[in-house]
Amino acid sequence: MLENIQKLNKEIINDIKSLKDKESLENFRIKYLSRKGSLNDLFENFKNVDKSIKGAVGKALNELKVFTQKTYEDKQAELDKLNKQDSSDEDYTLPGRKFNLGSKHLITQALEDISSIFQRIGFKVVDGREIEDEYHNFDALNTPDYHPSRDMQDTFYLKSEGMNKRYLLRTHTSPAQVHIMKSQKPPVRVIIPGKCYRNEAISARSLSMFHQVEGLYVDKNVTFRELKGTLDFFVKEFFGKDLKTRLRPSFFPFTEPSAEMDVECYLCNSKGCRICKYTGWLEILGCGMVDPNVFKHVGYDSEEYSGFAFGMGIERTLMIRHSVPDIRMFYENDIRFLKQF
Ligand code: PHE
Repeated sequence: MLENIQKLNKEIINDIKSLKDKESLENFRIKYLSRKGSLNDLFENFKNVDKSIKGAVGKALNELKVFTQKTYEDKQAELDKLNKQDSSDEDYTLPGRKFNLGSKHLITQALEDISSIFQRIGFKVVDGREIEDEYHNFDALNTPDYHPSRDMQDTFYLKSEGMNKRYLLRTHTSPAQVHIMKSQKPPVRVIIPGKCYRNEAISARSLSMFHQVEGLYVDKNVTFRELKGTLDFFVKEFFGKDLKTRLRPSFFPFTEPSAEMDVECYLCNSKGCRICKYTGWLEILGCGMVDPNVFKHVGYDSEEYSGFAFGMGIERTLMIRHSVPDIRMFYENDIRFLKQF
């Protein structure tokens, strides 16, 4: 009898290896555990076992039954679990669902970049206003009323009937200089990012709305050299390279002397290309020493104080930096364009 039990044990262990699906498991159950199964057969024979070995045989038989039953149940649970995964709607091999993360607009990023570069050297970021009056946008900036930029052709005037001033959409960020200087005594060291408006024919190069960043520094003994040093620092930080810069004499009514700053064309390493129109230089901003006439308007003593100011167009600078061929692309909100930055 004990031999039979051992034989069956071996057979069961051998059969366990082939338990791969429901069918083989059911066959296993019928073969060993059912009423007509081999285990029951042995239990039937148990009656005839000699008394002297009944204890040992009973124990062995019981152990084999418990083992077989447990093997059967474990396998069944395992197969159930697998089946459940197979039959659900989830396909775990599919790639995850993508969702678009929003990001800051290229212009916002540039305004923040520029502001933080100047903040590192002591400039404070302040806001200007987009609706100005003629006085702040022009007169206080030493721009007389016969100046062509005051023309309706160039400036959006707001309906100002019945008011004692003529209002307009600022044509540059420079009027913010006047507000700041009127509201505080020197030293003044500010950066003013914001929108400007000009009555331009819309084209690949110009829109009626664009962004500028204005800078102003007024204190005792501020020199033109500091202007150049400050702007050089900015160029190095913003473009990430030690690019050469040059100042070209220019004219703005509110600065004297005035200049325009060019940077070495980093697209062609100043060899000359389509973007720099084969000059090797790219114009990025206007600047100069604050005109004493502006100081007069804001009540600063030009004998005691001097200062510099600069203003740069953001769209144009970014078009150069990222080779954007058309200024309108900034505002079409085409996700394929925006996603690149
Ligand atoms: N406001 C000038 C412009 O719009 C730029 C500028 C700012 C020039 C400050 C000199 C000083 O072109």
